[in-house]
Amino acid sequence: MQSEAQRFFSEEEQQVLEDILLHRRDIRGNHFKSDLISGDNITKILQAGLSTPSAGFSQPWEFVMIHDVETKKAIKASFLEENETAKSLFLDDKQQQYTSLKLEGITKSPLNIAVFYTSKEEPVLGRTSMPDMGKCSVVCAIQNMWLMARSLNIGVEWVSILDPEKIKTILNVPKDNQLIGYLCFGYTDKFYNKPELEIKKWDYKKLKYEVVIQEKY
Ligand SMILES: Cc1cc2nc3c(=O)[nH]c(=O)nc-3n(C[C@H](O)[C@H](O)[C@H](O)COP(=O)(O)O)c2cc1C
Repeated sequence: MQSEAQRFFSEEEQQVLEDILLHRRDIRGNHFKSDLISGDNITKILQAGLSTPSAGFSQPWEFVMIHDVETKKAIKASFLEENETAKSLFLDDKQQQYTSLKLEGITKSPLNIAVFYTSKEEPVLGRTSMPDMGKCSVVCAIQNMWLMARSLNIGVEWVSILDPEKIKTILNVPKDNQLIGYLCFGYTDKFYNKPELEIKKWDYKKLKYEVVIQEKY
């Protein structure tokens, strides 16, 4: 039997991947443009999600594609409510800074995708000791989609200041599904070269020596 040819990557291709990784950004609402994303590009983004590794090949994900303006408005209402609570948790200068940030692009972006974890009753290979590996797999899918979108020059924002139960009600989600990521997709007028929250001095970029431990803590 003839074996399938293996794919190896050239240095130029490796460089492209590195560029995509380094230039991936979270695009906030003030930078989304209303231009629609083509069906071909949506297919590529979904294909990236479906090609993701998952514990035990469980593929525990479902993707809700949201274009409808009324649905987006209902989701945004949850954001506004949650964001009010969030503001009150930060104090003084930090609260002022928090208030100045635009932390969602739900109604401005042409396409929202809500990504859910679908649980299983029966044991899943690779998830018997660490059950959270199912949800981690869904996070991997989101990252794949984010990178694919970036390669298409499409911006992504991950919005997590939402009440997951309200989102489930709005989208008629089955009871056992869990919201992992609510994503806004759209073209943008601005891909920052660094995280916006770094540029705006919300936090600093951790250095390698702070987070890499050799052998043992
Ligand atoms: C799990 C997760 C949740 C996030 N939630 C939000 C959010 O609710 N609002 C927001 O503006 N950005 C959100 N972000 C984006 C981060 O703020 C952003 O990734 C970080 O500041 C680094 O910037 P960069 O993605 O542009 O490199 C989220 C990112 C992740 C990974």
